[in-house]
Amino acid sequence: MTGLVSAPVSGLKGDVIVTGDKSISHRALMIGSMAVGETVIRGLLLGDDVLCTAAALEAMGVTIERETDDLWRVHGVGVGGLREPDNVLDLGNSGTGARLLMGLVATHPIQVQFTGDDSLRTRPMGRIATPLSQMGTQVIARDGDKMPLTVIGARMAMPITYALPVPSAQIKSAVLLAGLNTPGETSVIETRPSRDHTELMLRHFGATVTVTDEATDRRVITLTGQPELESKEVVVPGDPSSAAFPLVAALITPDAEVTIKNIGLNPLRIGLIDTLCEMGAAIDIANARDQAGEPVADLVVKTSSLTGVVVPPERAPSMIDEYPILAVAAAAANGVTRMQGLAELRVKESDRLAAIADGLNACGITVEIDGDDLIVTGSPGNIPGGAEIESRMDHRIAMSFMVLGMISKDPIAIDDADHIATSFPSFIALMNGLGAKIGEHM
Ligand code: S3P
Repeated sequence: MTGLVSAPVSGLKGDVIVTGDKSISHRALMIGSMAVGETVIRGLLLGDDVLCTAAALEAMGVTIERETDDLWRVHGVGVGGLREPDNVLDLGNSGTGARLLMGLVATHPIQVQFTGDDSLRTRPMGRIATPLSQMGTQVIARDGDKMPLTVIGARMAMPITYALPVPSAQIKSAVLLAGLNTPGETSVIETRPSRDHTELMLRHFGATVTVTDEATDRRVITLTGQPELESKEVVVPGDPSSAAFPLVAALITPDAEVTIKNIGLNPLRIGLIDTLCEMGAAIDIANARDQAGEPVADLVVKTSSLTGVVVPPERAPSMIDEYPILAVAAAAANGVTRMQGLAELRVKESDRLAAIADGLNACGITVEIDGDDLIVTGSPGNIPGGAEIESRMDHRIAMSFMVLGMISKDPIAIDDADHIATSFPSFIALMNGLGAKIGEHM
């Protein structure tokens, strides 16, 4: 276990490329595995979470070659072609890997055991087991909904129409991936749109996916089952959820100008950018283009004076992973920021509501949890810091407090930085390359 410490800085400058999008990387490996022939993936995230997904697919008979760090080849086995693994699949820290793979295997006539690290084994899996059981899959889980668990795939899967009980791209994706090897039409109804990378990628590989979105409060997404997926090239854009860290660092530290290149700007992922712009952030979007069905651009960011805002609950799905770093921006803003409707943060890699509130409090910032809302009172130029924060096996908590350390009076430490490698292995080198002072903490 390695700790880190981050000290105050000014003058962050430079151009950076962040690592590939985690959500798209998982999906490229999984959907590529279901295609016939060879799928080439460029820009795959080399984070631990994605490497766990690759290993799990290999254990189920998919040949995956890492030709170079930037070029992977997946030899798909076709829809329904996974074989029973010889051993338990360990998805490490990855909720996305675990939940999407549960969906993918659910309609194969195989039995698969899943486990994960201490964090993943506390996370609810009943939300995935419920729709899968309606399709004919059996899920036997510890304590009813925790890993380790066993998925006994349906031999004759039944298509369902499933209304999401919570806005979650992971639940939606698990049902759609289960729908791949199911005859007929599998539909998911969502009342708050969540990231649509699964839908876009299934289409990219030739599946028929229709979306009725004439009313954004009731989207019906329908997949026609048992398609023959054609292998394709996938170019993974930079992860907006990772870009969030250099982005906020540049906004809140003095005299900064940073360009973050090649960032995926899917409209269902840009809630943080919208919110920061409302707060007064100077973010220019340059070189906007389309890359394999996903919008991509460069972000040019300069030091900005931010003002607190109210972030409405309906925006949460489009920035669900960004609340820890938004809370850091809120601490650096004038006035109060109220982030509404954050119940889902309680079941992420850690209880992020508690982790953010405890951490900000330890750094001398006024913060309150009111029901499912988080309220941060900004204290620009006057953040004491000087605390050691527990990262709670949560990469985004660890990185957020390293950014807060850049503007506090005294450096901020985290007890354990190991999990940063799940999503952003180059975080320390990239930030220090811009001028940050992040070093080892004993
Ligand atoms: C993800 C969806 C989100 C997000 C996670 C990645 C995905 O989870 O928090 O990091 O790739 O589908 P939920 O769908 O559970 O909100």
